Amino acid sequence: MKKILITGGAGFIGSHVVRLFVKMYKEYQIFNLDKLTYAGNLENLTDIESEPNYTFCKGDIVDGDYIRELFETHRFDAVIHLAAESHVDRSITNPMEFIQTNVVGTVNLLNAAKHFWKDDFSDKLFYHVSTDEVYGSLHDGGFFLETTPYDPQSPYSASKASSDHFVRAYQNTYGLPVVISNCSNNYGPNQFPEKLIPLFINNILNNKPLPVYGKGENVRDWLYVVDHARAIDVIFHKGKIGETYNIGGFNEWKNLDLIKVLCKTVDAKIGRPEGTSLSLITYVKDRAGHDLRYAIDASKIMHELGWEPSLQFEEGIGKTVDWYLENKEWLNNVTSGAYLQYYSDQYQNR
Ligand code: NAD
Ligand code: DAU
Repeated sequence: MKKILITGGAGFIGSHVVRLFVKMYKEYQIFNLDKLTYAGNLENLTDIESEPNYTFCKGDIVDGDYIRELFETHRFDAVIHLAAESHVDRSITNPMEFIQTNVVGTVNLLNAAKHFWKDDFSDKLFYHVSTDEVYGSLHDGGFFLETTPYDPQSPYSASKASSDHFVRAYQNTYGLPVVISNCSNNYGPNQFPEKLIPLFINNILNNKPLPVYGKGENVRDWLYVVDHARAIDVIFHKGKIGETYNIGGFNEWKNLDLIKVLCKTVDAKIGRPEGTSLSLITYVKDRAGHDLRYAIDASKIMHELGWEPSLQFEEGIGKTVDWYLENKEWLNNVTSGAYLQYYSDQYQNR
């Protein structure tokens, strides 16, 4: 039985990846390693937590001794590494935490894999999940390709770029079998309401202002989270060692246009007259160093590995809003306590 370590599996994307692997591959033993930071939530996995091929391990990837002991005990055959500090705004306030988790944590995992796999790299894989933000910001049209030079602009993207470089360096220097994917903005169920879409859904439901950074002209390329998990599955099984794959939805939206769709969708689903929630839109101080546009060219994974997004955006947004409406307890649990302090620090004086 293959033993696979998935890091960050209690988070947004990680929980969808864990679910997919646990359900689809009964012949794999899936270990979910997560520190359960504010973004990690075992409620994301209640439907699969008692499956015989699933084990949860609470731990910190920054703790090198713990990581080595975990590898010693379980002798993993593969790693799918998603654990990270993932929110750009938090990286602006506290960059050190991002360097610790995203850079030091990744190198701890690489060291453990190198150490325990050194006698035989065959059938082993270190899969590093990364972001399109490493490529920087697009200003004059065009798309990010796998060959686009790295040009990270925020502490978050700089830490992710650094981790990508370490992953490649471990392949080049030690021969570690690695693969990397760089994905665009995800949305869908279980996303923590600090990111644009769930934060705005929550605020619309509570009749709170919708804080649009700057003029709302920034552009993001949105992909439904289950389609990202499907892409990770395809790359894990069919990707070529040493390659990078870009993942995206060919689905660009200006923030303001997306917010209007959200207002319309939520209003319709909760029976408010169309347009009511548009009045909540409030323009606030821009994010420092705000990247203008991200857009992924996902041709390589589509042509070489046969993956493509399964959902149109309107359908995905509808499913996402439905999920938040049906999971009010989940939303209430994560927006009480520390969230209130975060929200006030982040938005009070904007
Ligand atoms: P998330 O913040 O929702 O989840 C991160 C998870 O990692 C949480 O469960 C958290 O508890 C865990 N974690 C954090 N620090 C840890 C540590 N030191 N040790 C162990 N676990 C730790 O993030 P997400 O949005 O699901 O992103 C997952 C990965 O995908 C990240 O690597 C991110 O850079 C990448 N990514 C995200 C997006 C996106 O749109 N959200 C897009 C492309 C790539
Ligand atoms: O592109 C992939 C990246 O997408 C991932 O690597 C990151 O982990 C993920 O957080 C996401 O980064 P963004 O910064 O693009 O996502 P966020 O949801 O924070 O913001 C999306 C856009 O909305 C961005 O232009 C900033 C804007 N925004 C965001 C918030 C939270 C607002 O206007 N107001 C807000 O309150």
